Amino acid sequence: MGPAPFRVALSGKGGTGKTTIAALLIDAFRRMGETPVLAVDADPNTNLNEALGMEVTESLGSMREEAFSRAIPPGMSRHDYVRLRFRQVLVEGEGVDLIAMGRPEGTGCYCFSNDLLSECLAGLQAGYRFIVIDAEAGMEHISRGTIGAPDLLLIVSDPGARGMRTARRIREIALSLGLDGDRMALVVNRVGNGVTGVGGEPAPLIATVPADPAVEEADLEGRPITTIPDESPARRAVTALAERIRELAGAR
Ligand SMILES: Nc1ncnc2c1ncn2[C@@H]1O[C@H](COP(=O)(O)OP(=O)(O)OP(=O)(O)O)[C@@H](O)[C@H]1O
Ligand SMILES: [Mg+2]
Repeated sequence: MGPAPFRVALSGKGGTGKTTIAALLIDAFRRMGETPVLAVDADPNTNLNEALGMEVTESLGSMREEAFSRAIPPGMSRHDYVRLRFRQVLVEGEGVDLIAMGRPEGTGCYCFSNDLLSECLAGLQAGYRFIVIDAEAGMEHISRGTIGAPDLLLIVSDPGARGMRTARRIREIALSLGLDGDRMALVVNRVGNGVTGVGGEPAPLIATVPADPAVEEADLEGRPITTIPDESPARRAVTALAERIRELAGAR
């Protein structure tokens, strides 16, 4: 078995750039040869796939609804059927595999299904060096323990005092979920020209990502974020971040 996977999760207020940075980070690991990378879309409003230019047909949540309600093919146990369906939810791409978590849960008792899916997810994750999780602000999938605690939580914020206050709240949420404060770092996104420090950081600053017209353009044209040019400022900043994370993973 290779080294244990290093899990990086991104959280932050809505619209701060979690998905954009997650996609560029995944692409950076891929370009660095850290393949395959596992991309986890833990936002119920799945869109990491679009940022990566990959097609998702089904989320884990919708698979669960189906796999635990329908009749199982003859000769198969529910366990076997879920394991089989689990593998179908994983999208395999060039150097990047993607799994969309979907909704955390519906109504009813999901203890058995959650245990089984946690087991499936744990087995899956063991095969990767880097796992990048695009989580929403509430980090519900992380709090439910289906994904596992991140080795590094990146709190994404816009610059400025208001952004920092929100980032601090995200940090409080993460702490209340039992995540280690030493494993949190701040990423300030959409930083304008000439801005050096932001001030009042709630966690050590690990990267600043410039406001980048190439990102806006890709967004407007509906192209995957991963198509922005190599020399784009946002890509360069996130590539440096990926290198920093690789160092952290190596030192662990
Ligand atoms: N560095 C950047 N430069 C320019 N535009 C950016 C940058 N980062 C993000 N954006 C734009 O900001 C918008 C929000 O980004 P994104 O979808 O990545 O945020 P998010 O935090 O994932 O949002 P949500 O909370 O809705 O999931 C998008 O239109 C994106 O193109
Ligand atoms: Mg998003």
